[in-house]
Amino acid sequence: MARVIRAALFDLDGVLVDTAKHHYLAWKRLANGLGFEFTPEHNERLKGVSRMRSLEILLEVGGLNPPHDQRETMAAQKNAWYVEMLAGLTAADVLPGARETLLAMRQRGIPTALGSASRNAPLILDKLGIAPLLDAVIDGSNTDRAKPDPQVFLLGAQALGVEPAECVVFEDAAAGIEAAHAGGMMAVGVGKAENLPGADLLVPGLYALDVDAMLAFFQQQ
Ligand code: BG6
Ligand code: MG
Repeated sequence: MARVIRAALFDLDGVLVDTAKHHYLAWKRLANGLGFEFTPEHNERLKGVSRMRSLEILLEVGGLNPPHDQRETMAAQKNAWYVEMLAGLTAADVLPGARETLLAMRQRGIPTALGSASRNAPLILDKLGIAPLLDAVIDGSNTDRAKPDPQVFLLGAQALGVEPAECVVFEDAAAGIEAAHAGGMMAVGVGKAENLPGADLLVPGLYALDVDAMLAFFQQQ
């Protein structure tokens, strides 16, 4: 079915900014403090999922099952370390090609929205200075169902006034690709093929995206 793309939805961490590494370092510090190793492979499972679900996966890896109040403390500690690392974030940390891609969408009359699980998204957008390039922002504070549930992207489509089938999603997480498809959207994987099974199109980073070629590709589907 030919797809005319009328809106572009962007994940934040790992697509527009390389905060994925800060998330990893903060989770690893928590795991190490609890007495177990947490590898980049384990971390792949955390990408795109909410803070509390990430903690559950991490505890599963460590074989721990602490009570609810301790979990809250652990998640808060991880977030405090993460936010500490965000303090040094500047406009220079926008990933290569991200600003250009947002601008290219705008030049073609294609509205853009953020679709992120992060509750820190407003702070990050502010530090990067890219909020004016997004027509809508949906983040962890607007959603109660984490990717792979499509809620965050469906809310983005709604905010932009387009049908889900008219949206393309840019994602670096397998859970995000799944969420886009669950919502009836096309999905461009940003990263390595082995981490992004099922992506309709794959680019190593937004710097490698040819927006017109992508639009033509989806139109021919
Ligand atoms: C997503 C990240 O964007 O946001 C996840 O890919 C993270 O790794 C999630 O757990 C929630 O982020 P935050 O900033 O609210 O803890
Ligand atoms: Mg991501």
